[in-house]
Amino acid sequence: RSRERSIRSLMRERLSEHRLQLLEEAGRLAESMNHQVFAVGGFVRDLLLRRDVLDMDLVVEGDGIAFARALAKKLGGRVRAHKKFRTAVIVYTPPGEGENGLPPEEQKVDVATARLEYYEYPAALPTVELSSIKMDLFRRDFTINALAVQLNPEDFGRLVDFFGAQRDIKERVIRVLHSLSFVEDPTRILRAIRFEQRFHFRIGKQTTRLIKNAIQLKLVDRLSGARLFNELKLMLREKDFLLDLLRMEEFDVLKAIYPAFSMNQRVEKLLREIEKVLNWYALLYEPTAPRQWLLVLMGLTERFPDEDARGVATRLAIPPRERREFLNLRSLCVETLDRLNTWKYADGSRSGLYFILESLPLEGILFIMARTGDEDLRKHISLHLTKLSHEALEITGEDLIAMGLQPGPDFGKILREVLAAKLDGQAPTLLAELGYAERLVREMRRGGGSGKKRVQ
Ligand code: CTP
Repeated sequence: RSRERSIRSLMRERLSEHRLQLLEEAGRLAESMNHQVFAVGGFVRDLLLRRDVLDMDLVVEGDGIAFARALAKKLGGRVRAHKKFRTAVIVYTPPGEGENGLPPEEQKVDVATARLEYYEYPAALPTVELSSIKMDLFRRDFTINALAVQLNPEDFGRLVDFFGAQRDIKERVIRVLHSLSFVEDPTRILRAIRFEQRFHFRIGKQTTRLIKNAIQLKLVDRLSGARLFNELKLMLREKDFLLDLLRMEEFDVLKAIYPAFSMNQRVEKLLREIEKVLNWYALLYEPTAPRQWLLVLMGLTERFPDEDARGVATRLAIPPRERREFLNLRSLCVETLDRLNTWKYADGSRSGLYFILESLPLEGILFIMARTGDEDLRKHISLHLTKLSHEALEITGEDLIAMGLQPGPDFGKILREVLAAKLDGQAPTLLAELGYAERLVREMRRGGGSGKKRVQ
């Protein structure tokens, strides 16, 4: 039996008013439908760990889809239902204001149905009578993810802990629920490492043994590329991706994913630089976040011959567009680094820097920053990201038309030249831009081309 404990006060303390109301509403609704409803998984774990709670997952003993529809109606949201799995996602906009006075962001609530007959028991496990919530939780990866909180009004906040999760959270260990967990789903090996590093936990002794076993049995080899890529992306998105990778290496998981992967000194050093650059970039609060997985994958494969880079992309079944991007970015970064080195000695102008970096994706720019040992170059690239890349002309094509120029290919050329002048401090105001453009237009009329060829 689960040890009874209410975390009602913890919920009040940690959740927003609106979330708390939503959960209470869900409880009342379930009661009226004669269902039991629970909040489960990462939500409860993060609550107990006093970490920010993101997604909400509900499990209903009863008709999950009907419940989701009814709850969505109350929230003014919409429902995407998957009849086959008896699951649904509610998407809704919470009331009030979001950040900076913007409308609040849409939120999601996942709803699943707990039904006994729906589960397949792992063959080697004894068949025992379990309540459906218990069975739902038993299917999950680790004890810390197998907690539930009852939401029905009478029991609101009652913690349901069948598998000693509270003890494991206290002792900070990652433990599987049964010995076939990694056989059922080898991606859990990556998940175990990810949670271990994220929470500063330790993978338990028995669980460590099971991971080693699964690797020896080559279960990772049998994973589909798509599932592996998905899980790896989640991992490489983490703040602690480097520790994750080192731990993977320790377990020989990296090699199981692709034999040429290695966390040798050089790779580790590069990844440390990538980590630093990512932390630096995060502090800029730029609206676009880099795809961290792409950057880390670039680091992991930096010294790979193209054949191996393609091999990785194939093993991970990276979708065509991203595959192309990854492979192109590798050569693009090498070329760009060369051009930057030439620029540094032969040109050194801000516009020159801008035109070299303008079309390189953010991940490439950050990769080069991490890759170069040249502090000066790093400062230049930083200037590009923080300042130059935000520069825009005040004049437009309309102004050129007003100067009597016919729209055509010269338009782009002139605007780029004015931009170059602006970047180099020669056209700091709207008036100066106009003056600069007028001069170019005049020169063009006179000579059939712009005099000063600055922009290639
Ligand atoms: N789960 C599992 N096996 C997997 C993936 C997921 O058992 N291979 C279970 C876990 O118990 C998890 C739940 O499904 O709690 C939801 O999965 P997910 O959203 O990936 O997990 P979170 O714990 O919410 O992880 P995160 O904090 O990274 O979002």
